[in-house]
Amino acid sequence: MFEGRDVLSILDFSRGELERLFEVAAKIEKGSLRPNLRGKILATAFFEPSTRTRLSFETAMSRLGGSVIGFGGTEGTSIAKGENLADTIRMLDCYSDLIVIRHPMEGAAKLAAEVARVPVINGGDGSRHHPTQAMIDLYTIWKEFGRIDGLEIGLLGDLRYGRAASSLVYGLSKFKPKRVLLFSPPSLKLRKEVRDFLVKAGIALEERDKLEVGSLDVLYVTRIQKERFPDPAEYEKVKGSYRLTVSSLEGARERLIVLHPLPRVDEIDLEVDETPHARYFQQAANGVFVRMALLSLLLGRMR
Ligand code: NCD
Repeated sequence: MFEGRDVLSILDFSRGELERLFEVAAKIEKGSLRPNLRGKILATAFFEPSTRTRLSFETAMSRLGGSVIGFGGTEGTSIAKGENLADTIRMLDCYSDLIVIRHPMEGAAKLAAEVARVPVINGGDGSRHHPTQAMIDLYTIWKEFGRIDGLEIGLLGDLRYGRAASSLVYGLSKFKPKRVLLFSPPSLKLRKEVRDFLVKAGIALEERDKLEVGSLDVLYVTRIQKERFPDPAEYEKVKGSYRLTVSSLEGARERLIVLHPLPRVDEIDLEVDETPHARYFQQAANGVFVRMALLSLLLGRMR
């Protein structure tokens, strides 16, 4: 069901497949399953900055006994000499069993998948998709609550340019949350095509300018994606326009969890880290288990 597939968008996966992924990840996390990827090679092609995505894929592959090649930043590769994306991917395809790519251009991962024979995982392309981040976000919610259905899920921040937020919304469309609440400055609202997708999936959705935490089970915070604004003046207008503090969490349900794909800039006050609601570092730690599960499933080594 997973073997040999590309992972370009969370929409490529059914609810049943995502649940299978979570179950495998949970077993790996508990220590009751440890697939063996000895002899397999993962290639990482990161054309944009990354800490968690690249390093957690590397950790996942190493923990499974496989090895990793690749680059983070194009300096030192032939891309600096003008090699095109397709040729670079063709080479990684010869050297590895699986490729993870992150690129500023929408559609770059799809192009890579067309060129490569080995599976390609999209580690983020422009403002569009970041499927493995959404898998980690959904796994974290599933693990915390034992379900995703019936929960009230809020997203706060730059929902327009953030690919993590879009991918999570697409992922939520596979489940039955009770309601999705979108909190963002008016210029950073969720893009229409993503919003419409959720509505078509029959999920109750509300957009608000101001954060209200009272009814939420999950609050997913994202940073303003400064690097994706076409006009720096537009960024200056919204800079610092929201910030989650301990006092903004007053009135929250006891069970509320706060998630963030990270990196955090200034949108979650450091004091929130000390509250029982903070779950973003755990979420990042979960990334290794979810990526271990995904690599094992794609490479067909589930024994
Ligand atoms: C996200 C990304 O790169 O889209 N980071 C991540 O992978 N955890 C979120 C972001 O950069 O804001």
